[in-house]
Amino acid sequence: MDSIKVGLLGLGVVGGGTWKVLARNAQEIARRAGRSIEVTRIAVRDVAKAQQLVGTSVKIDADPQGLVRDPSIDVVVELIGGDTLALDLVLTAIDQGKHVVTANKALLAKHGNEIFAAASKKGVIVAFEAAVAGGIPIIKAMREGLTANRIEWVAGIINGTTNFILSEMRSKGTSFAAELAAAQALGYAEADPTFDIEGVDAAHKLTLLASIAFGIPVQFDKAYIEGISKLAAEDIEMAERLGYRIKLLGITKRRPEGIELRVHPTLVPKESMIANVEGAMNAVLVRGDAVGQSLFYGKGAGEEPTASSVVADLVDVTRLLTADPEHRVPHLAFQADAMADTPILSI
Ligand code: NDP
Ligand code: HSE
Repeated sequence: MDSIKVGLLGLGVVGGGTWKVLARNAQEIARRAGRSIEVTRIAVRDVAKAQQLVGTSVKIDADPQGLVRDPSIDVVVELIGGDTLALDLVLTAIDQGKHVVTANKALLAKHGNEIFAAASKKGVIVAFEAAVAGGIPIIKAMREGLTANRIEWVAGIINGTTNFILSEMRSKGTSFAAELAAAQALGYAEADPTFDIEGVDAAHKLTLLASIAFGIPVQFDKAYIEGISKLAAEDIEMAERLGYRIKLLGITKRRPEGIELRVHPTLVPKESMIANVEGAMNAVLVRGDAVGQSLFYGKGAGEEPTASSVVADLVDVTRLLTADPEHRVPHLAFQADAMADTPILSI
């Protein structure tokens, strides 16, 4: 069977990781997907830099529009970030009948309803496991593993950068600025790190989780968002003395009058599991009526942990492409159900 042809938009932290994981584990991935997955074209700004990683055997250029219109490409992997060019590229790829894998939570939180509607109309898949909690397969777990449940709430640490900053400040007594710089150097932070420290990135992810949990449209603009930029070392110290740790939590909960969607620093008892999630690790707690409380824990950011989720989506898409189109499971963020019109509560 022919290989699946992939076009990679971006070869930075996540794109580079994706290239490496696909190359290193090519045989296992092909066996599991049922076909080889081959990157045949890459678009970046700095072509020479990309060639240092990939060599010259793959077509690399600075023409993302050409890539998404290339008739030989089956799946476009969007890893450039942002929500202007990325939106245009993703919608064009969908319009061209291509399946899309993206790690771009900012894009989906703002334009997900439009993107998923376009994909549904065109009969293509938009997969986004890497957009939430890095290497933790939380999208798949919620959509498939927990599908029997009425989800009551989802809460967790879903931004690696801020958890890294808070843990390092607490354990080493270092400054906010120094730890933000370290998180950037490690490839955890967003291109605009205010998204991390002001809670926006966590809210992007929470918005997607709420859509899957409750079958509601993506409604990022209704989320309550408070980041960690106003926290001082003394706050962290005082919490510790009182038996608590400060964690930036994303919380979404169903209530009779509507849905809570909020991100803010939270005091959690020191001995709780969530208090002991350190560094760039993420942890997502999900409460379902049948399963009770489940905790999903793992690396929430960085090169290969995120690539692990991107490649998992590529394998998923490849498997689905091999299946009869009528039997493909839709990869939409939400499938409108009885709660589709439930309001988000103002907080
Ligand atoms: P990087 O900044 O490391 O990489 C971005 C890549 O996109 C670079 O290769 C860059 O090319 C390319 N690019 C940017 N603009 C253009 C353009 N106009 N035309 C062509 N290529 C372009 O970002 P990350 O890999 O960290 O993030 C990518 C996406 O993944 C974002 O949406 C981010 O939110 C998401 N994400 C990131 C995680 C992480 O841990 N870093 C984890 C989960 C999701 P060049 O290098 O030549 O400039
Ligand atoms: N900037 C994000 C974080 C990357 O720190 O969690 C992973 O989505």
